[in-house]
Amino acid sequence: PSVASSGSRPFIPVDDAFEFPRNRLAIQEVLGQGAFGVVRLATASGICNSRGTTLVAVKSIREDATYEEQCEFVKELEVMKSIKRIGSHINIVNFLGCCTQNGPLCVIVEYCKKGNLRDYLVTFRSYPDNFLRWWDDAEAYMSSVDPEDPESGTATRDMLSQTVLLSFSRQIAQGMEFLAANKCIHRDLAARNVLVNENNVLKIADFGLARNGEYYRKTSAGQLPVKWMPPEALFDQKYTEKSDVWSFGVVLWEIFTLGGMPYSTIPHEDLYSKLMEGYRMERPPLAPESLYDTMKRCWNHFPDERPDFSLLVLILERQLVRMA
Ligand code: ADE
Repeated sequence: PSVASSGSRPFIPVDDAFEFPRNRLAIQEVLGQGAFGVVRLATASGICNSRGTTLVAVKSIREDATYEEQCEFVKELEVMKSIKRIGSHINIVNFLGCCTQNGPLCVIVEYCKKGNLRDYLVTFRSYPDNFLRWWDDAEAYMSSVDPEDPESGTATRDMLSQTVLLSFSRQIAQGMEFLAANKCIHRDLAARNVLVNENNVLKIADFGLARNGEYYRKTSAGQLPVKWMPPEALFDQKYTEKSDVWSFGVVLWEIFTLGGMPYSTIPHEDLYSKLMEGYRMERPPLAPESLYDTMKRCWNHFPDERPDFSLLVLILERQLVRMA
């Protein structure tokens, strides 16, 4: 009954390398809501040279999206295609194909069964033993627990937890290193935009989105994207690999607080002046000093003084080796 929107839709040329036949997608439940669309679970038969069916995530745009929103969505698709032409990386949500003809525009990406990293981290709070599932060698923990003394395994468990959290951090740095090497600036790197697949691999999502001024709007979890932004982005809308590095520092803080709310006591209108005074968040209790030092390097006021993602991969690798 609504006004037909056909005719006010951007023209999208067919790209045979990526076009996937709509009738080979079986759409299932909604996984999440985006800014102007939804993401649904689907099975795709014969996608990316696989013989059987594959679980995938399908992003589509709302029926009543404006022409501008549709153009944004097409831009996202083009970014995903251009990165896919260069290659895949295990730590990004890889693009698998799209349906652009005879119906709503759909973008098909890898499905990440365990949802977003922030919600996932929060589950570790009530079930500290969740960490053990990540550890190949849970025996190291079991053998350190004295059945007479329930506290005796705590030190081992904390060390295992730190190792797991460091490995999360390194995976995100690796995905960001790949994106940065391919001239892709994320602009909204946060734990809510990192997904976890069934094999516990972390994957950076939504790197193809153009973003314009939605940073002051709260996310569904009540987070304000400005709290992930460096001063030069807050003040000058200047986005570079190094502004993503600042956000990565906030992601490290989220990881080591198991999904904490950054700057929870600071109203967003005070954030800029506090940062300019040199205020930075404290060390989360779970974070080793060396990791807190890395966080603070990401939060250097001067973008050029912050490490790039290649260096962050090396730094985190070194910290992981030292834990082992
Ligand atoms: N929500 C949004 N994108 C998703 C994906 N690729 N996998 C699982 N849940 C999602």
